[in-house]
Amino acid sequence: MNAIEMKEINKSFFGTPVLKDVNFSVLPGEIHGLAGENGAGKSTLMKILQGVYTMDSGLIEVAGSPAEISSFQDARQYGIGMVFQEFSLIPELTVAQNIFLNREPTNKFRLISDRSSIAKAHKVLESVGIDIDVTVKVSTLSRAFQQLTEIAKAIAAEAKILILDEPTASLAKHEVDSLFKVLKQLTASGVSIIYISHRMDEIYQICDRITILRDGNLVAVDSLKNLSPQEVIAHITGRKDVEMLSYEGREVDRRSTPVLKVVELSAGDRVKKVSIELHAGEVLGFAGLMGSGRTEILRAIFGLDKVGSGKIYINGEEKTIKNPREAKGVGMALIPEDRRRQGLIMEHSISTNILSANLEKLSHFSFLNFQKINQFSQTAITDFEIRPPEAKREVKLLSGGNQQKVVIAKWVATNPSIILMDEPTVGVDIGTKVEIMKLVRSLAAQGKSIIVVSSELPELLGVCDRILIVKNGEVTDSLERYEIRDEDHLQLMLQGINA
Ligand SMILES: Nc1ncnc2c1ncn2[C@@H]1O[C@H](COP(=O)(O)OP(=O)(O)OP(=O)(O)O)[C@@H](O)[C@H]1O
Ligand SMILES: [Mg+2]
Repeated sequence: MNAIEMKEINKSFFGTPVLKDVNFSVLPGEIHGLAGENGAGKSTLMKILQGVYTMDSGLIEVAGSPAEISSFQDARQYGIGMVFQEFSLIPELTVAQNIFLNREPTNKFRLISDRSSIAKAHKVLESVGIDIDVTVKVSTLSRAFQQLTEIAKAIAAEAKILILDEPTASLAKHEVDSLFKVLKQLTASGVSIIYISHRMDEIYQICDRITILRDGNLVAVDSLKNLSPQEVIAHITGRKDVEMLSYEGREVDRRSTPVLKVVELSAGDRVKKVSIELHAGEVLGFAGLMGSGRTEILRAIFGLDKVGSGKIYINGEEKTIKNPREAKGVGMALIPEDRRRQGLIMEHSISTNILSANLEKLSHFSFLNFQKINQFSQTAITDFEIRPPEAKREVKLLSGGNQQKVVIAKWVATNPSIILMDEPTVGVDIGTKVEIMKLVRSLAAQGKSIIVVSSELPELLGVCDRILIVKNGEVTDSLERYEIRDEDHLQLMLQGINA
């Protein structure tokens, strides 16, 4: 008997169908992958199962019996728990309080001194081998531990079916490994897991079967043993051959004055005496574990965090950059990791978001030149293949990957000479990842200088001319691209093993 069976599910938004007669089923104790391009309908299908959206037609069965799921509470009754693409934790509450929050909403303040909830939370975590102090505030945890807290929350609600929507987007390799251990342990106790991911290696590492959606249609469901990665990619993209990115040796003129030179920059306790030289047309990568300080280095350079000491030179001239406005003034752009909190205004349209960073540029044109403005955002939408290509659409209605494309489009459109990118392909599908990386290379070819932070090593290896290893807020090594043999080699360097 299937743990979950969804039959002929249909769903439209504003008259546009996004799920068309989709069938989806999950066996007890299996890890079932759900794959497809950005906007294929993965999150929508799962939100229907979770009672967030109502389906237009179709049938849901849980453990063989028809189920009416029209709210979050209903889903919980049926033992369905979901870890969302964006976190639902309350940062100011402790881990224990968050774990029990949804179940006893009226009690949340009593919980503060509730010893039994602390003991219970501890037990939940222990049962799946997660080692977190449940009395600390969630805001003090790393993203990885926040992720695990989200999962613990679902387990505590006694979920029999756990939905994970891109859970590893911000996790480092070893954190992914411990997450996977937890998931395996859960399946051993009969829990079924639905796993949404854009990462092929993960899908093969953890999933038993896979369902693939394309444009709201079911295109394949099979055991992964029967499918090669090429076949999976072909189903996802609908194309036979998808290009992979490989580095082509390029000459960077390092004798010229660096476009950006950072000398012994320190900020807070997360950035320690960092020195960097970045030349015109150069792509520089930051490799490091989660929490190593890569994001903080970018933030300090961009004037987002207060700098303690150190110097920054732009084209040989010393500059003080105290805030992002001054950073923009010297030709920098920062494409942030956290698109929700830092990159986009969710209630605004695609075009408003793209224009927000580009107003000065457009004011060269007459004040109310709508045509120019429309053309400007339409070009960005086309260049970045934003779907659906409707400039007026609110960003919060886009799929996760398309939101990420809007962030990138917005900053690239400001025509900066130095671009700092923090995990630019998080949540972006396989085809689009390659497009974004190609874009990075074409920007470099136009003479722009780029720093890329990425936890996906193949990506760094595909685009960077040089890679810095960041550890504990310090740059511990600098490697020319040709010095790095392959991904395994870089992985070892990251872990501090000199190979
Ligand atoms: N609330 C909504 N209102 C209108 N359209 C929506 C809404 N939610 C999703 N959509 C649209 O439905 C389609 C499917 O979106 P969905 O979020 O399910 O994609 P996804 O497969 O999860 O993609 P991603 O990999 O980018 O997360 C997209 O075209 C999206 O723009
Ligand atoms: Mg999604």
